[in-house]
Amino acid sequence: MRPAKDYIVFPLDVPSMAAAKKYVALLSDVVGMFKVGLELFVRSGPQIIKWIKSSGDTQVFLDLKLHDIPETVKRTMRSISDLGVTFATVHCGETKQMLEAAVAGSGGDVGVLGVTVLTSVSDTDLHTAGFREEFHSDASKLVMKRAAMAKDSGCMGVVCSGLEVQMIKDAFGKDFIGVTPGIRPAIDGVPDDQQRVTTPAQAILNGADYLVIGRPIREAKDPRSAVIQITAEIKQALKRI
Ligand code: C5P
Repeated sequence: MRPAKDYIVFPLDVPSMAAAKKYVALLSDVVGMFKVGLELFVRSGPQIIKWIKSSGDTQVFLDLKLHDIPETVKRTMRSISDLGVTFATVHCGETKQMLEAAVAGSGGDVGVLGVTVLTSVSDTDLHTAGFREEFHSDASKLVMKRAAMAKDSGCMGVVCSGLEVQMIKDAFGKDFIGVTPGIRPAIDGVPDDQQRVTTPAQAILNGADYLVIGRPIREAKDPRSAVIQITAEIKQALKRI
């Protein structure tokens, strides 16, 4: 069984390399992976990835959520594959060709994850965006459709809500990776802009392989002890599966 801490992905959603380094130093022995997103990557470029990797035995998830024509996605994923990151993301919201291009560009050197429907999106948002009733009345239907596209395109897994990960595992097999953001420990109670949320324990019980947990850690009075509490919750949940 994997250690509980390895399930935790901490997003470095900070505006500077100095702030990112502070969190890496504080948390690298208690989380499994750091996620670098657009905000930090635009500031620091690949340097921050090199720095994180050289600072210890830590994995990096580059979350740029690519969304472009297939050729551009393929070429970008090829550049990403040189960086030594474990996972990189591409949106599932366009075409299957775009996902196939991401997988082709990765050359098998980085795990491509398809972003199904952002956990900040609600059924009402889907209605407003013009989706027909089948999809806006139940976001999980759209998530499943997009996860099927990701699976068929050769993606290693998907990013989805902890509410949907069980359906995805049932449909596409336990080796198809499920990464779940939108995690809110029960004691926090504040979903921020997230809509389709679960607790860490629920996400684990539903089969999540990785939990992206940002604000509940970053905004805690003591981020390190928040991680330790969450890890204890994950450990308990792992005993039940
Ligand atoms: O826990 P918190 O809400 O702060 O997590 C925010 C992080 O999760 C951001 O880095 C955001 O990019 C990521 N995220 C994601 N996929 C989603 C929703 C959020 O990767 N569907």
